[in-house]
Amino acid sequence: MNKSKKLLIWYNKQFYDFPWRKNHKAYNIWISEIMLQQTQVSTVIPYYLKWIQKYPNLKILQKSNLDDLLILWQGLGYYRRVHNIYKSSQIIAREYNHCIPNKYSDLIKLPGIGDYTASMILSIAYTIPNYIPIDGNIKRIMSRINMISKKKSTLINYKKYTKNYISQLNPGDSIQALMDIGREICKPQLPDCINCPLNDDCNAYLKDQVHKFPYKNKLKDKPHYYVAVGMIFKDDKFIISKRLKGKLLENLWELPGGKIKKNETKTKCLKREIKEELDIKIKNIKQIGIINHEYSHMKLTITLFTCTYKSGLAKPLSSQEIKWIKNNQKNDFAFPRATHKLFELMDNKK
Ligand code: ADE
Repeated sequence: MNKSKKLLIWYNKQFYDFPWRKNHKAYNIWISEIMLQQTQVSTVIPYYLKWIQKYPNLKILQKSNLDDLLILWQGLGYYRRVHNIYKSSQIIAREYNHCIPNKYSDLIKLPGIGDYTASMILSIAYTIPNYIPIDGNIKRIMSRINMISKKKSTLINYKKYTKNYISQLNPGDSIQALMDIGREICKPQLPDCINCPLNDDCNAYLKDQVHKFPYKNKLKDKPHYYVAVGMIFKDDKFIISKRLKGKLLENLWELPGGKIKKNETKTKCLKREIKEELDIKIKNIKQIGIINHEYSHMKLTITLFTCTYKSGLAKPLSSQEIKWIKNNQKNDFAFPRATHKLFELMDNKK
């Protein structure tokens, strides 16, 4: 039996019933594939369901605003993705009459859509064969089946090997089958080779070398930053500020503060940052606790303080927007996950 047929037979028996597999509209595939980038299926499911309920199609999405989309996206991370969805929705409405294009050359021009996502949309939504998306799962499977060395570990080679497994009639199911095998069977650690439908093709398995693949580059340690932030109270309100455009996590709201310099105490850092960012002085500084948070490229240790406003204009020195809010208004703003952790710390102190 040929390889793609074997894979589809397995898929039709195993079929993981994810919500984005219920219909193959290009809009649904686009949103789900953007959400699934660097994010586990189980994390994405509730976000996807909420999104599709609120923005079931491109016409409705196109009328939304970025702040509302950011609120829905809170906690999913990699916020650049939602900025790009917003920008793309405007372009698709204007230039493609609200229809997601079905040509690779058009798709690839949209913000946030690269070779991988364009190939997923073409294969799954438009059933067009010969666009092969390569992600970490497919790389791992192919590198084991073909025992791909460091030298042969190129995108072109991965596409060439993967093509053997993709049905011309149903490329979308073939690709999703590989994703399911990568996630559930051909896992990075402790792969379940006995139950793999591709095990009789797999050179690494047959030669008992699975643990050696995929070839691993040595990972660099992530930088680790120490940060002090404050909830600056005046009566029952505290200050939040919006992150500037062009910065990581742009347009999300956060508590004022910043990186602790060498030889600086945490409270000195807090006072300095708040003077620099807001031009105000603070008093009654009290440490509440510490949280750790890890991004793809850095680790943060953040100390949370409460303090009270003493003097100054509370006007941001840069073009940053600020607001005084009450505790029960937090849900009206989008914050990064690390800021939510700080709010949880504060709530648990009460
Ligand atoms: N990861 C990325 N895309 C996926 C899909 N369509 N199904 C399951 N996992 C995925």
